[in-house]
Amino acid sequence: MNVKLNNPDKGLDPEIIRADFPILSRKVHNKPLVYFDNAATTQKPQAVIDALVGYYTGINSNVHRGVHYLSQQATIAFEEVRGEIQHFVNAKFSHEIIYTRGCTEAINLVAASWGKVNVGKGDEILISGMEHHSNIVPWQMLCEEKGAVLKVCPLHPDGSLDMEAYSTMLGEKTRLVAITHISNTLGTINPVKEITRLAHEKGIAVLIDGAQALSHMKVDVQDIGCEFYAFSAHKVYGPMGIGALYGKEDVLNAMPPYQGGGEMIKSVTFEKTLYNELPFKFEAGTPNVGDVIGFGAALDYISAIGIERIAAWEQELLRYATEKLSADPTIRIIGTAPEKASLISFLIEGIHPFDAGTIIDHMGVAVRTGTHCTQPLMDGLGISGTIRASFAFYNTKQEIDRLMEAIEKVKEFFL
Ligand code: ALA
Repeated sequence: MNVKLNNPDKGLDPEIIRADFPILSRKVHNKPLVYFDNAATTQKPQAVIDALVGYYTGINSNVHRGVHYLSQQATIAFEEVRGEIQHFVNAKFSHEIIYTRGCTEAINLVAASWGKVNVGKGDEILISGMEHHSNIVPWQMLCEEKGAVLKVCPLHPDGSLDMEAYSTMLGEKTRLVAITHISNTLGTINPVKEITRLAHEKGIAVLIDGAQALSHMKVDVQDIGCEFYAFSAHKVYGPMGIGALYGKEDVLNAMPPYQGGGEMIKSVTFEKTLYNELPFKFEAGTPNVGDVIGFGAALDYISAIGIERIAAWEQELLRYATEKLSADPTIRIIGTAPEKASLISFLIEGIHPFDAGTIIDHMGVAVRTGTHCTQPLMDGLGISGTIRASFAFYNTKQEIDRLMEAIEKVKEFFL
């Protein structure tokens, strides 16, 4: 790990950080890669790659199942990461952290398990107009099954949540609020603590989709106060295929298991099964041990740099990119809420995002184009998609200049 830091007053030096990420020195289309698709997935530092190789070459073994040395080593490492995640999000207990395949599965776990015993006919689930499909579809499926109703809180034109509407939509029938911490399309940072406080005043449980938040800001689940907080490792410089659900101990204890199988049982007879305690009750089957170890390495890496430093540099990138894009009258930024994370969605007048994205890619700049898995949001905005540049702490202002040059090429080609 190469986390040499500068003078703390001067923030971090992305040129030093970049050396830790092997992929960032490659070329695409014969040009140095500019990677601005960090909201889709982040690149991995060598420390994470080494941790994965180290696990498979050194201690690969099944966990919680063997008295043999390797199994014990793997189990210790696997459970240490649970504790690390606990501290990273400031959960009260490590057994409040449930490993899942990712943020989507964490949300589905709550819908399937908590929803099974807490949502009935005529009940309401409140989401917002900026949700990712992963925080819409599980609730739609639950509502369909139970005869419940999905309500959608509207947004202001700048892409911030209409908190007045939110307050009034919290009703007697509302069972759960499920809202994203940071919009993957607009960049809006939602006031999740206030959202939770208002819901709790009416006895309503809260789930926060933290997929986009963990890499950009300090997340403190006890401070937020929510019942559930869902996230993925791959958006925080860790491997794909692993994530976690934070749930409050008493809430998790009262929920039925999610899936049946090994690990989630205490004892089985053909007549009856006794379920295991937290967190194992929700972790059926052999877990993804290697990627858990990689997740731990990613959190170590971020912690060594410091999330506050990361946030400060990313905000500087956001400010710089917003200034550059706003100076071009042919560009319209989609999402201008006062509190934003380091991503910008935009349109170039008269040019379809897909066409623009293709030229931008040929200039070596990776952006995402399309609906970003937020089709209802796009419908509400009356657009078919956007071009999205999402920044990580290893990005630079020079790279934003490269994006601006690529946009000029797009305009030369199409206008
Ligand atoms: N949700 C991810 C994105 O916004 C895939 O790109």
